[in-house]
Amino acid sequence: MNYRHAFHAGNFADVLKHIVLTRILVHLKAKETPFRVIDTHAGTGLYNLEADEARRTGEWREGIALVGDKPPPARVAELIAPWYQLCQGLMAQSPPLYPGSPWLAADLTRDQDRLVFCEKHPEDGARLKGNFTRGKRVKVMEGDAWSLLPGLLPPPERRGLVFIDPPFEEENEFRTIAEGLTQAMRRWATGTYAVWYPIKGMREVEAFARRVAGLPAGRILRFELSRYAVQRIDRLNGCGMIILNPPWKLDEDLRAVGDYLAPLFAKEGGGFLRLDWLKHEEKK
Ligand SMILES: C[S@@+](CC[C@H](N)C(=O)[O-])C[C@H]1O[C@@H](n2cnc3c(N)ncnc32)[C@H](O)[C@@H]1O
Repeated sequence: MNYRHAFHAGNFADVLKHIVLTRILVHLKAKETPFRVIDTHAGTGLYNLEADEARRTGEWREGIALVGDKPPPARVAELIAPWYQLCQGLMAQSPPLYPGSPWLAADLTRDQDRLVFCEKHPEDGARLKGNFTRGKRVKVMEGDAWSLLPGLLPPPERRGLVFIDPPFEEENEFRTIAEGLTQAMRRWATGTYAVWYPIKGMREVEAFARRVAGLPAGRILRFELSRYAVQRIDRLNGCGMIILNPPWKLDEDLRAVGDYLAPLFAKEGGGFLRLDWLKHEEKK
């Protein structure tokens, strides 16, 4: 396990995935009934943007920093406000911090909601635990997400989100996710699942999308941002998220957000948004 998220915190991929996470949580909060967030690949939860790792890559300067440089139109500003206000508060601290998905999920949920964070890397797992020492709303589990997840499903609340954000350092990561999702859906078919993935080669992305489209969710949304006009296998051309059983109207939110993010993160004549339904069954 070489991947450490501290090198990438606040980059364009984090911006995209954390806005998606925010919008899902906002929609889940529309009902008073409690829900659960299971973050399968949680990282440490909070990142110092002046730490050696963040300084070495400077990736956040082409991610969260651009949102400050080119503020969005009013509708998008409203959609991203719960995330962006949290970022602004933390980035104004000394040293400036960036919130990872667990921190964001903890910030955006209520007393009645529950959070489970899984992390396999022993050092990052220990940091994550250190960041969430108080409160019975949060449970941190150290270990392999795919071994832990079946035992967490279905959650007692029968409402909520499984947020899946693997490091993609293994060759067969797409297959592992597809298999993990298949197993998870057998235990809890009505949950919302959001999976992040990198776009390097389109062939593997298409194969993954086809496989996910066969899962027993009524509606499956695909949201992708390609930064470059020409895709090259040796770089991160963009990234995407597939959301199974997305909340009502999430697609409209992501259309507005995507129209803002695509030109913001464009490189070398690129900047393309793709938003479509892999599956959309009408409610009976
Ligand atoms: C992309 S980072 C997560 C970032 C985090 N979701 C966020 O948005 O702030 C992926 C994390 O998964 C962890 N990881 C890698 N393999 C794992 C596994 N099999 N189970 C759980 N965590 C794993 C890595 O150590 C890393 O911290």
